[in-house]
This record gives sequence, structure tokens and C-alpha cells, in this order.
Amino acid sequence: MMHKQSRPQSRLLSLPPLAELHCHLEGTVTPELALMLAERNGVCLADVVGDNGRYRWTTFLEFLAAYDGMTEAICTEQDLYDITYAYYANMAQRGLIYGEMFVSPQHGLNRGLSYAAQIGAIADAMYSAEADHGVVTRIIITCVRNYGAEHAEEMARLALQNPHPLVTGFGMAGDEACGDPADFTRAFKYAADGGLGLTAHAGEVMGAENVRATLEALPVDRIGHGVRAIEDEGVLDLLMDRNIVMEVCPGSNIALGVFPDHQSHPLRRLMDRGLSVTLNSDDPPFFDTTIEDEYNNAALYQGCTDAELAHITRSAIMAAFCDDKTKTVLLDRLRKHVKII
Ligand code: ADE
Ligand code: ZN
Repeated sequence: MMHKQSRPQSRLLSLPPLAELHCHLEGTVTPELALMLAERNGVCLADVVGDNGRYRWTTFLEFLAAYDGMTEAICTEQDLYDITYAYYANMAQRGLIYGEMFVSPQHGLNRGLSYAAQIGAIADAMYSAEADHGVVTRIIITCVRNYGAEHAEEMARLALQNPHPLVTGFGMAGDEACGDPADFTRAFKYAADGGLGLTAHAGEVMGAENVRATLEALPVDRIGHGVRAIEDEGVLDLLMDRNIVMEVCPGSNIALGVFPDHQSHPLRRLMDRGLSVTLNSDDPPFFDTTIEDEYNNAALYQGCTDAELAHITRSAIMAAFCDDKTKTVLLDRLRKHVKII
């Protein structure tokens, strides 16, 4: 892994309740859990997890390959249930009150799991995590850019033909260098017409021009990462004008070498520019982070005050792909902990 930095020493006492909009389900699987699932399902992950017990990757494309390779160990509804419950039970104990999860149904379809079976298992785990730990969650159905436009349209079609109360968003991840955002306009318009909130990864490993192209081609509400917009004032203006909420994932960006360290990450500059930013862990064990670490690091390295951290949680709730009643309940929970909002 590149540019690894040490974890903050301890939890800061003043963290507000946490909310996360950008986290990939398969990306929450620790190497230990991946090996356990692999053994349970008779799958070999030797190319994916090294002898040191860490995922094997150095570049962004190797990361995507390791991620795809690890998904081969996720074979059953029970696997999906276990992964989802483990993540939210753990994060709720660290202060998470709201989480949205990117779910890529293509990975399960490749293992013979129907869309409905996948969502049913993940949703069951989400309801259990909420009942047991109070964390509220939603699902963003995700297409993978390097799998092409037809795949994206099929993912949107599956989401709309199998409506589920927890499926409230549609997104795109994968390799930004592949294709053009305009290739995906049909999929995103279809998802928008079906009432789903929209987000797309852009400006993560590719530059500001890819954020602009995404905003011009796709009717998104939020941008996944978007941090390289910092390279172009005009693109920052566009984000402001369109009221786009940014799903910022500093730990991911640093692990992938997009920025060399926390000090040089543009989170603070984006905030000072007036953009609406949220904090997210993306693929936490791949990047040696957690949502709690992200909040702590924003305080430690970007000088975020208690009020600013609480405002970040508020921004996430306001931009969440959930109904207004749920937002009101979440904002009340936030207010109970911090008086400044
Ligand atoms: N899929 C999972 N994590 C991703 C990331 N950080 N960028 C693009 N696609 C992804
Ligand atoms: Zn992501």
C-alpha cells in the first residue's frame, strides 16, 4: 500500500454522531473476514490476500483487481448478511447513526445470486443492525464504469423493477479512465425517472475535467470524491452552482496516492470555498481507515472544530438519499449530542 500513515492514537472525545454516504459493501470486508468466507465457500484468495494478512495491491488498477478478486469469496445470502451486519454493528459502536452502502449487484449475479436475493439479505442485516444498534441505513445500487453502458442500464433496470424501501440511490464506481460519462446518461436518467438519488465517482484518480464532464452528462445530486476539482476554479464554481454535495474520502485518496498526505489533502480548501462536504471511508480495510478515523483525522490534520465536524454530519444527513421524516429523526439525534446546530 502506498503512503501508509499511522492511525490516530485514540478517539477524540468530542466527535459528534457520524454519518457516511460513500462506502462500498465489498470494500468493508477485512482480509480476515475474506479468508473466512473463502474457506467457507472453497475459494482460493492467495492472489488477493498476502502472507502478511493484507490485501495485495499498490496501484489504483491493482486495488480494483484485488477488490473484484475478493468478491469471488462472497457466494451466499448468508455471506452478504454477515458482511453487512458486521460492518454496521461495528460502526454503530463507533458512533455511526446513518450509513449509505454502495451495492454492486453484478458481483453477486456473477456468483449466481439473484438481484432480489442479494438485496433481501443485505436489507435483513440492515434492519437487524438498526434494531440492535440504532444505525439507520440505505442502499445505493452501483454500476461499474469499466463494465460498460449496457451493464449500467441493466443495474438501473434491476433497481427499478425490484423496488425495495431501502434502495434509494443509484451510483457509478470503477475505473474513471474508461469510457465517457455521457455513455451512462441513459442509465442515470432512467434511475432518476424512477426516483432514485444519483451519485457518480469522478475526480478521484482522474482530473477536474472528469468532474466537469460528469456534471455535464449526468443529473447527479452528489459526486463521489470530486476532490481533484481543486485543480480548476471553474469546476469548483460548477459544483457550487449545481449545489453538488461532495463525498470526500481522505484516507482512500491518500492510500491511493491521489494526495501524498493528510496535510496536503484539499478537504479544508473545499470547505473554505463553501462547498458542501461529507466524510467517508470508501473501502475501509483496503485503505486502513474507518469512518471514525476520517472524522478524527479531519480534526487532527485539517483543523476541523467540533462545530465543523457536526456540520459535516449535518451535511451528510441533508444530502442523504432518504425521506424527510428519517432526516428529521437523524437531525434530532445529532442535535441531542451537539447544541450548535
Ligand atoms: N470501487 C470501490 N472503491 C472504489 C474507488 N475508490 N474508486 C472507484 N471504484 C471503486
Ligand atoms: Zn468509492
